[in-house]
Amino acid sequence: MAALGRFLSVEGIDGAGKSTQLAWIAEWLAKQGVAFVQTREPGGTSLGEKLRELLLTEPMHLETETLLMFAGRREHLAQVILPALARGEWVLCDRFSDASYAYQGGGRGLSREKFFALEKWVQGSGLHKIQPDLTLIFDVPLAISQERMSAGRALDRFEREAADFHARVRAAYLERAASEPERIRVIDANRTLEQIQTELAQILSAILYQER
Ligand SMILES: Nc1ncnc2c1ncn2[C@@H]1O[C@H](COP(=O)(O)OP(=O)(O)OP(=O)(O)O)[C@@H](O)[C@H]1O
Ligand SMILES: [Mg+2]
Repeated sequence: MAALGRFLSVEGIDGAGKSTQLAWIAEWLAKQGVAFVQTREPGGTSLGEKLRELLLTEPMHLETETLLMFAGRREHLAQVILPALARGEWVLCDRFSDASYAYQGGGRGLSREKFFALEKWVQGSGLHKIQPDLTLIFDVPLAISQERMSAGRALDRFEREAADFHARVRAAYLERAASEPERIRVIDANRTLEQIQTELAQILSAILYQER
């Protein structure tokens, strides 16, 4: 049987530990001999990385921000994600549309209606809808994420937002997870790296070795 690629995204508020855990997931998959592409949003393509730079630095209207996020996503799907899945490879993506739901929707107040319209345009609908097979939301209390963030580099336009913004983003992520429990797993990221990785290994083994 030919290997089938899976589309996996990691989500969570800034400083939750997404990139740290995605790097670990990549190593874990490599050890199992799984071919994968590791990518991120905003970004992932040459155009997308230029959009990322603008999105993280340039003040703009909420709807402009949302449209640019989805424009970058369209390009990312066409150039990177869909070709990799077609080759039977896994796609590991640091943020995808759930981030738009949480940041532009929850954080900034974009209507759900507008989010769903763009999601449908870019990702399709019904049986042909393109969505990650599995999304891991790394969930931590705000105080912990702030601590982890401030230990690192200079803050971007989203990271500089006030605490109530991050609280709304976190709440929107959890709401999204509750509405799609089959796709989205909430991981308690307020634990040691080792504890989290034990859980990740179980989750990944289950999908890697499941029949499809
Ligand atoms: N479980 C953990 N326990 C302690 N520290 C952690 C844990 N997970 C991540 N960290 C640390 O917290 C910081 C932020 O982690 P990371 O960059 O992975 O977060 P992120 O979710 O990718 O953030 P961003 O949204 O800003 O990209 C890093 O210094 C990382 O080493
Ligand atoms: Mg990161």
